Formats: sequence, C-alpha cells, structure tokens
Amino acid sequence: MAFRTIIEPFRIHSIEPLRLTTEEYRRSAIGETGLNLFGLHAADVIIDLLTDSGTGAMSRDQWAAIQHGDESYAGSPSWYTFLAAVQELFPFRHVIPTHQGRAAEKILFTAIGGPGKVVPNNTHFDTTRANIEYTGAEAVDLPIPEALEPEHLHPFKGNVDLEALERLLAARAPAEVPAVMVTITNNSGGGQPVSLENLRGVRALCDRYGVPLFLDACRFAENAWFIRQREPGQADRSVADIVRETASLADGMTMSAKKDPLANIGGWLAVDDDALAERCRNLLILTEGFPTYGGLAGRDLEAIAQGLKEAVDQDYLAYRVRSTEYLGDALVAAGVPIVQPTGGHAVYLDARALLPHIPPLQYPGQALAVALFVTGGIRGCEIGTVMFGRHPDGSEQPAAMDLVRLAIPRRTYTQSHIDYVIEVCALVAERRAELRGLRIASEPPALRHFTARFEEL
Ligand SMILES: Cc1ncc(COP(=O)(O)O)c(C=O)c1O
Repeated sequence: MAFRTIIEPFRIHSIEPLRLTTEEYRRSAIGETGLNLFGLHAADVIIDLLTDSGTGAMSRDQWAAIQHGDESYAGSPSWYTFLAAVQELFPFRHVIPTHQGRAAEKILFTAIGGPGKVVPNNTHFDTTRANIEYTGAEAVDLPIPEALEPEHLHPFKGNVDLEALERLLAARAPAEVPAVMVTITNNSGGGQPVSLENLRGVRALCDRYGVPLFLDACRFAENAWFIRQREPGQADRSVADIVRETASLADGMTMSAKKDPLANIGGWLAVDDDALAERCRNLLILTEGFPTYGGLAGRDLEAIAQGLKEAVDQDYLAYRVRSTEYLGDALVAAGVPIVQPTGGHAVYLDARALLPHIPPLQYPGQALAVALFVTGGIRGCEIGTVMFGRHPDGSEQPAAMDLVRLAIPRRTYTQSHIDYVIEVCALVAERRAELRGLRIASEPPALRHFTARFEEL
C-alpha cells in the first residue's frame, strides 16, 4: 500500500445522531447513577466504548440477508445458510446455535463440568468462569507471565503458559480435566492474540494427557489477523485459511456472534464428539430452542452467516486492527499509560500507573472512567479492583491491575471520533492530580460493578 492512512473500508449509508452534552449535564447525569457508568442512559453518552459486544454496525448485505430470514420452526433455510457459513470456517461435525456466547458456555459446562473438575484457560472471560464455577468445577487461568506486565511488549501476550499447563495436567487424572480452553483473543488479558505455535503446543499437551481442547473463539478473525501479521511464515496465507487451521487444532468451540461475526446477537457451541453433541442438544432444547434455531430468529441466523463472510475480509481486518492501534499509539505518545501492545478490540488504560496517588482500594480505574465521562462524554469500563476485588468470603483485595477498557465497536466510529477520544484522554491525564479516589456507598453481594454506587473521597 502506497499510503500511510488506512481508511475505513466502507462509507456511511445510514446514520445515528449523537447528542452533544455539556460537562455540567454529564456531571449531573453520572451523579444520579452514584458514579456508575452502567447506570447511564446510553443517549447521554457521546462515544460509547463500554463494550464491543453486539454494538457494531451491520453492513448493507447483512440487512439484506435479514430479509431472507425464514422463521420455520424446524429445518429453516436460514439454518442451513448459517450452518454452511459456520462450517466453512470451523469445520466441526456438530453446530448448536445459541442466543449468545454465555448460553453456549452454560450448555457445555452443564454437560462436562461438575464438582472436583478443573478447566484451565489462558484467562477465563467472566461468564466462562461463572458458568464453570456454577457447576462446582474450578476455573484456572494460566497466561504467560508477560501477560501480567502492562508495558511488556510481546507479540502473542494471549499465549497459554505451556509449562504451567503441563504441571496441571500431570497433577490431575484426565477425568478431572474435562477440557482445556483457550480464549482467542484473550479479552480479559487485554485483547491479546494467541499464536498458532502456542495453540499447537496446547494441542500436543491435550493429546499427551487425553484431554479435549475447546476454543472460546469470539475474536477469531482478529486473532488470525495478528497471526498473519506477526507469526513467522504466516504472512502469505489468507485469514480464512488461518482460521481453519486454528479450528482444526481443537475439538470444539464456544462463540459469541456479537463480536467478530458482526451481529448484534447470537452464538453457538460446536463439537466433534457425537455423544457430547447429543447431550448438549438435549440441554439446548430445555432452555434455548429446537436445534435448528437455538435461541435465535431465522433473520439472526442470516445476519451471522453474512457477518462471518465479512469478518475474514482482509481490508476490513487491516482497518479494524490498525484503528485500535491508532488510538493506542496516540495515547502512548500523549504519555497516557496503556497495556501494550494494543489489543485487537480495545485499548486498556493503566489507571494504577496514571493515578499513583489513588490507592487500588480507592478504585483508580473507576475514578478515571468517571472523569472520561464527565470531561468528554466517553463511556469506558473499569476492569480492576471494582470488578475483581471483592471475594466470595467477603474480603477485599486489590485486583492484579486497575485498568479502564476502551472497547471499540466494529465499523461504528470514524477516525475523527477516535481523535476526539485521544484529546479527552490527554486532557484527563493532564488534570490527573485533580482526580480523587472513591468509596463504595452500596454494593450487591455479587458482580458489584454493574450496580454499586460510589462517592468521591
Ligand atoms: C472472550 C469472551 N467469551 C465469552 C463472552 C460471552 O459472550 P456473550 O456476551 O455473547 O454471552 C464474551 C463476551 O464479552 C467474551 O468476550
């Protein structure tokens, strides 16, 4: 490419207005929620970077595909379109559609989890961990040590610590480990990719110890793009080809179609094992629906099928990963500390490093997230001591890191929106000394980050 600027590979054909508010208005709006960004009316947010899940823009071809939605209860043509699109990239024998990723997790772990069992992962996403623990099993995170050092540059910071995995597998009987999971990209670990070499290493260990390997594959296309860019010998392959090799290393997968498949809702569970598939389909019928639609309408199946084709488009992925990196690079240049290198779907601000005067138990991540909203109407998400600090025994400890995630919805914001985000972050960083710690005024017994109320100290 002769030019430095990687443009959005689309033009805008339908718009959603943004309401521009004043700092005074935003201060009052966040005050009413008890300084909790989940309590805001979304219409009061100017740039919403709370999540990249289900918040992307669908294409003209996806909206057109929706018109082909066939709502037959059993054996709809939309089901066969969906099945073909999934198996084109993930050729597992059985595909079980669900309303979103966590429903696939719930079904899988109801079938294979249970007390006394342990499921390792690079880092479990919170719903994955919760669904495993709900069955009485243990969820263990085994990321490489570099993953816990925000400034450490590593091309595949999502990799599994193979030595730690081998120690775990050697210490437990195979029946105690119903599956090894690998999350690509590693969302809770900073949106960092996993290399093919690491996945092959995990596969070899799974073979040696007779344990199946499952992918939590929500961001499979971004992961494959990173492999193509960063892994020796992969630069000439198509993304679809890398995705197929990734899938071929596993025995099954869970998926949230709200991420890389570019849909607003949906997911699936896929497995090769016939007996496991039958158990899962029986569970599916209890809570999601008949196996040819799961928790979805025919039109959703169509939108996902078309989204999967667009997800592996290389011009789209070059723009997607570069635009996230553009934000990360500009923040580093402005002296705002972030988790490096920039992940695929989000930039993670290091609030603990930016606000050393606010101790972790005064929630620097939450203080920073509130300041970004008040200053510029930007909604991010604290991923730190508010989210992970409270333990089931009631004690509270600082989380490993205090981050604010700025997740980038797909194909939704333009470069000038991102330039605005950069300006707001730089201004908040300049005024960092004015930010104060917070205390929790009230909180629920579990998952407190969604509804806790805070007060400034
Ligand atoms: C890595 C990962 N796994 C699973 C899920 C759960 O997917 P869903 O929100 O569709 O239930 C998410 C959602 O954010 C995720 O990022």
